[in-house]
Amino acid sequence: MTLKGFAAAFLAVCCAIAAGTLATYRPAAVATAADDLVGYGKRLVTETFAEIGPDTGKPFAGNRLACQSRHLDAGTRPSGVPLVGVAKAYPKFSARSGRVISLAERIDECMTRSMNGTTLPQDSREMAAFIAYIRSLDGPAVVQAPPAPTPSTPPDAARGAEVHTRVCAACHQPDGLGRRAGRGYEFPPLWGPDSFNDGAGMDRFERAVGFIQRNMPRGIDPAHPQLTLQEAWDVAALLQSKPRPRYAGR
Ligand code: HEC
Repeated sequence: MTLKGFAAAFLAVCCAIAAGTLATYRPAAVATAADDLVGYGKRLVTETFAEIGPDTGKPFAGNRLACQSRHLDAGTRPSGVPLVGVAKAYPKFSARSGRVISLAERIDECMTRSMNGTTLPQDSREMAAFIAYIRSLDGPAVVQAPPAPTPSTPPDAARGAEVHTRVCAACHQPDGLGRRAGRGYEFPPLWGPDSFNDGAGMDRFERAVGFIQRNMPRGIDPAHPQLTLQEAWDVAALLQSKPRPRYAGR
C-alpha cells in the first residue's frame, strides 16, 4: 500500500468510527430525562396524593393515599407487597380478569380499586413513569407468603374493635380515619371515604390478615409479629364491617 493509499484508508476508518460514535451518541439531556421518569415514578408511588390526588390538577386518584400506604418503603419492603421484580412477570394471567393482562392494566387496577380513582391515559407521562420506576426495581421477585391460616374462632369485629383501640388507634386514630399531613396522610385511614374501595385486594380477608400481621404496627419485624393470628383476623373483620367507597367497575 502506498503512503497515500494508507492515509486514505486510515481516514476512511476514522470517519467510519466517528460516524458510528455519532450514531450511538446520546446527549446527556436524554439520559437525564430517562432518570427523571424513574424519579417521577418513585414520587408517584411515595406521594401519590401530591401528584395525582383529588387536590391536584390531575386527580386520577380518588383518595389521598399513597401507593406506599400498601407497597411499603416505595415498594421495596419484602413483607409489604413489594414491587421488586414484578415487572418481568407481566404480561400475566389475572384470575380477577380471567385473561392475560399487561403491567399497565395491572397499574390501572390499582388506580381504580386501591386508589378509588380512574385509569391513566395509556400515553400519559404518569403511566410511563410508573412502569419505568417498577422496571427499575429489578431483582428476584419476592415469593408471596402463603395465605394466613384460618383462626380457631370465627373472626369477630367486636373483638377487632378492642384490638384497634389497644394497638392501631395510636396511629390510625380512634375513629380509624387516619391523621392528615399536607395533601395526604401521615397515617392512612383504615376505612371511610378516603380509604381503598371494596374492589381492592386489601378488602379481601386473606390478604389483609397477612399484611396486618407481618407489618402492623408499622416497623415491626415480620418474623416476630406483635398480633396473634386471631387478633389479626378479628381486626380484619373490623375493617370489613366498616363503610368504604364502592368499586365503580362492577
Ligand atoms: C406506629 C404507627 C402504626 C400503628 C400502631 C399501626 N399502623 Fe397501620 N399503618 C401505619 C402507616 C404509617 C401506614 C402506611 C404505610 C407507610 O406510610 O409506611 C399503615 C398502613 C396500614 C394499612 C394499609 C392501608 C391501605 O390503605 O392499604 C393497613 C390495612 C393498616 N395499616 C392496618 C393497621 C392495623 C389493623 C393496625 C393495628 C393492629 C395498625 N395498622 C397499626 C402506621 C401504623
